[in-house]
Amino acid sequence: MSLKNKNIILGICGGIAAYKSCDIIRQLVKLKANVECILTKNGSNFITPLTLQTLSGNKVHQDLFEEVENYDVNHISLSKKADIIVIAPATADVIARLAVGRAEDLLSSIVLATNAKILICPAMNCNMFNHKAVCNNIETLKSYGYNFIMPESGELACGDCGNGRLAKVEVIVSSVEEMLINE
Ligand SMILES: Cc1cc2nc3c(=O)[nH]c(=O)nc-3n(C[C@H](O)[C@H](O)[C@H](O)COP(=O)(O)O)c2cc1C
Repeated sequence: MSLKNKNIILGICGGIAAYKSCDIIRQLVKLKANVECILTKNGSNFITPLTLQTLSGNKVHQDLFEEVENYDVNHISLSKKADIIVIAPATADVIARLAVGRAEDLLSSIVLATNAKILICPAMNCNMFNHKAVCNNIETLKSYGYNFIMPESGELACGDCGNGRLAKVEVIVSSVEEMLINE
């Protein structure tokens, strides 16, 4: 299957699973997709823009207020160009921001501005994931038509065992393929 001519925005947030985004990019690029990464400010504590830029072959977007070369409002042009926005890993924090429609950072602004499909892949500690606040926010986002790939159960980076581990990269990539092919 080929994702040629498909524009994928990959949002990467500040969680331990951010390193797995490298594999997601590699697999999508192998399928010939154009991948543009949006790294949150906190995400850059976990992974560098240089790594993401090298793997995707594209400049990494981080700042809502970055200067643009051609006059083009970045969050609007990116949101229009996207066929799908995938957020992996999605933190409890970004899920909360999206659920209330905040737009103070590039990633949440793009999600608000787009008509593209949205796929959210949460990853966090199991107690966080099971918290009523997070569950309610996920239900709210589902009611907006956003798609989710729920985390797996197992041993977590913090040492706890439970539901919260980012879904397998292959599962995320095949969901993206399915969502883009069945447009
Ligand atoms: C070492 C460490 C690991 C973290 N891992 C996660 C995580 O896996 N999932 C999560 O939701 N938050 C995690 N956090 C908390 C987020 O980094 C924090 O909520 C941050 O505001 C998220 O920002 P962002 O959503 O803009 O990237 C972690 C924080 C630290 C210090």
